[in-house]
Amino acid sequence: MLLVDSSKPRIFLAPMEGVVDYPLRRIYSQVGGYDIFVTEFIRVLQEPVTEREIFKYAPEMREGYSTAEGIPVLVQFLGSHPEALAESALVAADSGCVGIDLNFGCPAKTVNRHDGGATLLKDPMRIRTVVETVRKALPPKYSVSAKVRLGFDSKDHAMEIAKAAEDGGASWLTVHARTKIQMYQPPVDWPLLGRMAQSVKIPVVANGDIWTAQDAELCRQTTGCQHLMVGRGAFADPWLAERIRGIRRSDFNFDTKELLALVERFAAVSLEHGPERYVVKRVKQWIKHLGRNFTHFALNFDTIKTLDTVEGILERMAQDNALLYEARQDSTPARVKVYGALNEGVVFVS
Ligand SMILES: Cc1cc2nc3c(=O)[nH]c(=O)nc-3n(C[C@H](O)[C@H](O)[C@H](O)COP(=O)(O)O)c2cc1C
Repeated sequence: MLLVDSSKPRIFLAPMEGVVDYPLRRIYSQVGGYDIFVTEFIRVLQEPVTEREIFKYAPEMREGYSTAEGIPVLVQFLGSHPEALAESALVAADSGCVGIDLNFGCPAKTVNRHDGGATLLKDPMRIRTVVETVRKALPPKYSVSAKVRLGFDSKDHAMEIAKAAEDGGASWLTVHARTKIQMYQPPVDWPLLGRMAQSVKIPVVANGDIWTAQDAELCRQTTGCQHLMVGRGAFADPWLAERIRGIRRSDFNFDTKELLALVERFAAVSLEHGPERYVVKRVKQWIKHLGRNFTHFALNFDTIKTLDTVEGILERMAQDNALLYEARQDSTPARVKVYGALNEGVVFVS
């Protein structure tokens, strides 16, 4: 069975290095609403990677590359050496993977300097060769997908890029609707993404700047793509996929208790896999992004920023949350003053 076809719209959680790792995937799998996960990129140079290396990025290997809730996890490779990528794909297949995603979109200088990621957008034929070589190496039951941008420094070759992936035999194509030189700056070009999608027969997954359910709707209308991939928007709102599906209300102010529980679980799982100082960084990183939507939740981020233990951060957040709930029950209905526990400032909550 194909993971992505026209039978059902799919919502991918975007691969994000240093963000969407194993602990976060575990939490988002429990949250629900997402159909497919992709590992952070695994770099392949001249030599194929080992199973051990793949396992570092995809501990789900132990469970047949699936989360406890049954969400498939694709292995993403980044490189330009077709044979090394094909052999790496075979290693992943032997370890039980479901599919391989090939990264042709990474804009990082270090990656591009080593002729990987978005560099290949300059020459669509190279994308075709890589996809074709990996596709030919793997039996058909494994998907081989490609993730691209609109181009490197211009959008002139967008159609050729889509065609290259299709001609190489990609199972589907994910398009991040920006050029490489745009990095993550707006605007995204959804209309061009839509024209790319229309120009090929394989499914196209639309990606870029879907922050809300309304964005998702507009993206679907503009591009004609039913499949979506959400990255930073999902990091800033774990329930984004459920909101897109219309199975969760879009009021951020009432999710803070659940959110706190998610952050606690994320911290606990992360501590099983990494040193505390790294987990502290990751928890702060997430809280900061969540603050974009859950402004009340990130009430005292300036204080949280200074804390250096997971326990300290969680305690502080629990205190802030309790104050917030108290304030909500306060008889002053319109604007309520919430004082941070350490009295650093006054935040108005409507
Ligand atoms: C911090 C960060 C790390 C990323 N790492 C990867 C990666 O490992 N592989 C990949 O294909 N894309 C990566 N991306 C790109 C995202 O998958 C996605 O294409 C991009 O963020 C646009 O989607 P969004 O607007 O929904 O965030 C990364 C993006 C960010 C912000």
